Amino acid sequence: VGAALTEGPLKGRHVLVTSGPTHEPIDPVRYIANRSSGAQGTAIAAALRDLGARVTFVTGPASVPPPGGVTVVRVETAQEMAGVVKATLPVDAAVFAAAVADWRVANAAGQKMKKDGTGTLPMLEFAENPDILAGVAQMGAGRPRLVVGFAAETETVEAHATAKRARKGCDWIVANDVSPGTGIMGGSENAVVLITADGAEVWPRMAKPEVARRLAARIAAALA
Ligand code: CTP
Ligand code: CA
Repeated sequence: VGAALTEGPLKGRHVLVTSGPTHEPIDPVRYIANRSSGAQGTAIAAALRDLGARVTFVTGPASVPPPGGVTVVRVETAQEMAGVVKATLPVDAAVFAAAVADWRVANAAGQKMKKDGTGTLPMLEFAENPDILAGVAQMGAGRPRLVVGFAAETETVEAHATAKRARKGCDWIVANDVSPGTGIMGGSENAVVLITADGAEVWPRMAKPEVARRLAARIAAALA
């Protein structure tokens, strides 16, 4: 691992990977985010690179560094991520590992919000962010041949993820249980269920780079 290989089963393929959380500003110094570290998306980008792919890695503010040997585009918000993804197309395959904020603050303040001294509390209003995965999965001409989504769930993982695959129109969903007890969000291991048109495959719990290598191998097989 390290430098990009020029050989490998994904040689000549361009793959897009989104990763990390997004930050949605409340005011210039505050934001709403989530607990995604970006570790799984980073490992997937590295594994695809190691199979010879040209990788464009679109990442929110992650706590792990991006891999070497890939094109890194850093973004802050979901709307920025959506714009960069659109500009990166066409690609052969797209993997949406980012934990995109579902909502942004609609009434974000242009200046730092101040206490007014009377105990009046600020009221945040929200707007729904664009669904980046669904937008790409449901595009007609120019759709990547393989669109892979993730599903972060805290209960009935397989059922929720199967419904999510149908709703979004993607080819595969990599589902994981992000309940606090599992230690998966922010941890070094992942336990995933791969949902395809053929049903659900339960993978054993393993290190995130190992999940990434297995997924990259499956992507290479699907594009072969
Ligand atoms: N996703 C996206 N854009 C969004 C929200 C989610 O591209 N605005 C992608 C994620 O990167 C992931 C997949 O959609 O690949 C599923 O994300 P998840 O949060 O599990 O699903 P949601 O559709 O947002 O549903 P919910 O959070 O309500 O379970
Ligand atoms: Ca969500």
